Amino acid sequence: MQIDWQIASVSDWQADGILFYILEDSPQPLPGFRRWLEESGAWLLQSMALKDFSGKFQEAAVNYGPLEAKTSRVVQVGLGSLDKFNLDKLRGATVVGLRKCRELKLSSVAIPLSAFEGLPLEAPSALEEVLIAGALGLYRFDALKTREVETGTYPERLLILAEEEPDEALRLVPFAADAVISGIELARDLVTAPSNQVTPGFIVSVARNLAENHGFQLLIIDTRTAEEMGMRTFLAVSQGSREPAYIVILEHAPPGTEQDAPLVFVGKGITFDTGGISLKPSDKMDMMKHDMAGAAAVIGAFEILGRAKIQRRVVGILPCTENMPGGKAYKPGDVIHTLSNLTVEVISTDAEGRMILCDALTHGLTYQPAAMIDIATLTGACIVALGNQVAGVMGNRESLIQRIQEIGDQVGEKVWPLPLWDFYFENIKSDIADFKNVGNRSAGTIAGAMFLKQFVPDGVPWAHLDIAGTAWTDKDLLTAPKGATGFGVRILTELARRWHELTID
Ligand code: BES
Ligand code: MN
Ligand code: ZN
Repeated sequence: MQIDWQIASVSDWQADGILFYILEDSPQPLPGFRRWLEESGAWLLQSMALKDFSGKFQEAAVNYGPLEAKTSRVVQVGLGSLDKFNLDKLRGATVVGLRKCRELKLSSVAIPLSAFEGLPLEAPSALEEVLIAGALGLYRFDALKTREVETGTYPERLLILAEEEPDEALRLVPFAADAVISGIELARDLVTAPSNQVTPGFIVSVARNLAENHGFQLLIIDTRTAEEMGMRTFLAVSQGSREPAYIVILEHAPPGTEQDAPLVFVGKGITFDTGGISLKPSDKMDMMKHDMAGAAAVIGAFEILGRAKIQRRVVGILPCTENMPGGKAYKPGDVIHTLSNLTVEVISTDAEGRMILCDALTHGLTYQPAAMIDIATLTGACIVALGNQVAGVMGNRESLIQRIQEIGDQVGEKVWPLPLWDFYFENIKSDIADFKNVGNRSAGTIAGAMFLKQFVPDGVPWAHLDIAGTAWTDKDLLTAPKGATGFGVRILTELARRWHELTID
């Protein structure tokens, strides 16, 4: 969907459809809609259409005007009531409206800037969220279909209507939105594509493309180098697979930031998780192609860092491998020496995420990070605890966790904290090694985080995002159709963008 401006007086606005937001329980249309009605919408004022529209959230209606009108289709979308209004409502209503326009195969849909007037929002951020949400709500993955492919993407163009030249802040919004959209779409494409396509080697090639396009530094650690470095837990997971494993390291360091302490993002890149020798049940095992969603989120964030030229040094570390059973696979009971020289007793080979992340975190320390954030589809228990629309966040800094929560609220990626008190370590104590990779059944998400915590010194601010529930959705959501969501891309990006203004103690 292409985004363009149309700058003209209200009565000259022209598009296949024009979208307006309606508040519930509001006697008057919002000011921008009112002005349009007075200038161009006499036909609509004379009908019952306005009266019959309640403005409930997710309500949408298309009103048809005379053929000769410049905008003869008005798409009304409900925001719900003003006291419950937030950005999620604006995003959701936009998607409902645009999906309607897609059904009708409209080529151009217009959203007037004035449609935001009267809502408690700044126009630039409202516009940015609307553009991003619109694109994400209309996302489709049809790369692998050869029959019944829908031809044409509707709407082809989204027009931003303005009465006068937008100021600098507004003018830049479509570029910023485009960057975010392409980052999330990249993450979704990678997560949706199957594991016979998205292998660790494929992730390397994607990273290589990104590095070439945006001038990132790229370092690929293959299994031989990993062996020399002592990344034995990572290698333990990879050794059951015949697919070559890699640790991909991307670095974004725009001129002037090279000496800064970087933010380090670590993303779990299990391209397929069979569980290994602790084999998973076959029911729904196909889903486990999405076990690289953490790595994909980091890649998506890098696409945005590069496109939007965000002035912040960021390092991305992506341990990528399959988790397979096989003659050489690691086994329950094995004890592995991690890169940090701690010893881990393997209880379940299905708790492989923490095994590859721990070496990646240890390696991350060599960058002397300002903070480390890891993101991983780590535990099924997180789905039990928080469901499919909220990710778990844990870490060693209250303030960092809070900032992540605030950012998540603003960008529509909800996260909720779980505690990491020291006594949870009891759960992963081992009789023969420093600790084990699985505890008893209780507090599974916390046990995973507690394991990772052993690899991060207290001096380094660290947060862990468990996206097992949020990376994939089994039903259509407003800003994410069924499938990969790209969850985490925006949190990571915004952390980088705003890092200098966040206070982390
Ligand atoms: N990749 C899974 C977690 C997962 C489950 C992600 C469902 C998305 C949806 C992870 O590697 C795993 O298998 N975790 C185990 C941990 C257990 C062995 C302690 C789990 O959740 O059962
Ligand atoms: Mn697993
Ligand atoms: Zn896994």
